[in-house]
Amino acid sequence: MNTLSELSQSIKQASTLLKKGKIVAFPTETVYGLGADASNTEAVKSIFTLKGRPTNHPLIVHIFDESKLNEWAKDIPESAWKLAKAFWPGPLTLILPRLSNVNDVVTGGLDTVALRVPDHPVALALLGTFGGGIVAPSANLYGRVSPTSAEDVREEFASGVDLVLDGGRCSIGIESTIVDLSTSTPRILRPGKITEKEIYSVLGSSLSTISDSSIACPGNKSSHYAPQAHVILSSLDDVEKDLQEALIHTKKVALLAANLPNQLAKNVIYLPLGEDVATQAHNLYHSLRKADHMGLEVLVVVMPLDDGIGHAVCDRLRRAAGLKNWSQVN
Ligand code: TXA
Ligand code: MG
Repeated sequence: MNTLSELSQSIKQASTLLKKGKIVAFPTETVYGLGADASNTEAVKSIFTLKGRPTNHPLIVHIFDESKLNEWAKDIPESAWKLAKAFWPGPLTLILPRLSNVNDVVTGGLDTVALRVPDHPVALALLGTFGGGIVAPSANLYGRVSPTSAEDVREEFASGVDLVLDGGRCSIGIESTIVDLSTSTPRILRPGKITEKEIYSVLGSSLSTISDSSIACPGNKSSHYAPQAHVILSSLDDVEKDLQEALIHTKKVALLAANLPNQLAKNVIYLPLGEDVATQAHNLYHSLRKADHMGLEVLVVVMPLDDGIGHAVCDRLRRAAGLKNWSQVN
């Protein structure tokens, strides 16, 4: 990791590359993004090709500050300004009606656009230097675990990325909260660090949480964020039984949990998740990648507390296991 002043040359270079239609990976506070000039159709198309992502899964446009909202969105409701004021720069993405000049490739043909101001000095310096909007999906292959370090990005893409800006480990570790403000009642399409309660406290009105976000949030499919290992969601009560069952099938078993249980079968590798919800979010993708590096075949997870950012951690774990909601967990 380099300091911001050491990175200033690379940031200028990154901006020049973006202007030439090249791909630049950069850190945000949530996860690393795979960036391209949002106004350059060919560059945006190459992001989809590189990730292997279906073209109808829209991208988030990253902007320097809220004053740029008017360049992308129209009919901006008061709620958007309130949320932007409260949480930007930060891990919140707003879905708004789009202006007609916004490229169809960016929005997958939808009449809305996703916008976010990231809270990372490198991302903000890049956006400030570049001047325009930067589309940036998480810098992973489609359906895989999002990267939370520059090494993760390099590992994911051996070629095709023209520059990776190294800003160290992402502080939050999971993707931004997405709020849809394009319908009459605001809806959370993807949970993240900014919780429903926090959004409610700013808006003063309730939100509708949809259970099947596959329609409103294409790309938010159930089998996302998946490591190579088969993920089994467990609980403190069931963990011993689930580990024993996994060991019948393979020797390559790990346990991902907040605490080391009193008894752990000899062959099982323990991957600590961390004790508080913020640490768990910070560690989650890092641990899932570690499981891949170790060639593990089964990862038994003691589900953490579904509280605050823990709600988003549980959501990502359920998706890593290929499940959609609690009723399908047990
Ligand atoms: O934290 C983040 O949001 C990271 C960092 C890099 O900023 N980015 C990220 O991008 O997670 P991505 O592409 O991996 O996830 C964006 C999600 C997708 O599920 C996509 O379907 C949804 O945002 N999305 C984008 N535009 C949308 C729109 N107009 N309506 C509904 N959902 C949209
Ligand atoms: Mg993603």
